[in-house]
Amino acid sequence: MVGLQEHGTSVVLQLNRPAKLNALSTGLEQALLDALHTPQVQAARAIVFTGSERAFSAGADTSELPEMTPDRIAAYYRGSGSVYDVVSRLPQPTIAAVSGYCLGAGFELALACDIRVAADTAQFGLPEVGLGILPSSGGLTRLVRAVGPALAREIILFGERFPASEAHRLGLVREVIPQARMLAVALERAAFLATQPAMAVAWTKAAIDAAAESSAASSLLIEQLAYAALNRTEGQKQ
Ligand code: COA
Repeated sequence: MVGLQEHGTSVVLQLNRPAKLNALSTGLEQALLDALHTPQVQAARAIVFTGSERAFSAGADTSELPEMTPDRIAAYYRGSGSVYDVVSRLPQPTIAAVSGYCLGAGFELALACDIRVAADTAQFGLPEVGLGILPSSGGLTRLVRAVGPALAREIILFGERFPASEAHRLGLVREVIPQARMLAVALERAAFLATQPAMAVAWTKAAIDAAAESSAASSLLIEQLAYAALNRTEGQKQ
């Protein structure tokens, strides 16, 4: 259900459940978690997440939602539902390469990546409230931090789909690319990020996450400690 291709020092993880528009069933989430633990991914210097031309992912598998009880939901977040958080904490740079539908948990997975590049066909949206639930795979939190609470309210409460151009205008997408070139461009960006010193990337990612949650004083201290930790590491140039 998850394809893995190596491209130099980058890997591409491809959601591959086309008959269901890559709906993120617990099985697909678990396959993604398993893929993240493979030696190829662990050794990779950059990771690209993608789907099919028609859908990055149409979101959580709605056929599983009625089976959820509070106990099962708690177990879910300890199991396959942890994948979004695991992606967000990867030490390597991560890119979501998005074509077609990018809805619900699919959008949340894209938001868990460092950057997003989108085909001009991409459609984003968080339809959960209309289903009587809410985005709960980290997407609500990440969207608020990315665009602020006012815009997050609009996107989540209306639940409307919006095109790649709008996602770009909001700063959610780095660039919009014609469909035919989208993955190639994502791979070019990954190839560049893969050349950046790995330790500096990993500490910087962690420091940016901490900065979003810390006082200025704590965040400054983290910057300084991370600099001290990076000083004279292999990637440091001077
Ligand atoms: N969960 C489970 N199955 C899904 C799915 C989802 N989130 N999204 C699509 N599918 C399945 C459909 O049931 C259909 O399966 P079938 O052929 O066995 O009946 C198949 O994928 C193709 O979807 P279909 O609805 O026929 O395609 P479409 O082009 O007409 O519409 C969407 C595409 C994305 C607009 C529509 O499928 C949709 O609204 N999906 C749900 C999106 C959603 O609410 N996601 C958040 C869930 S919390």
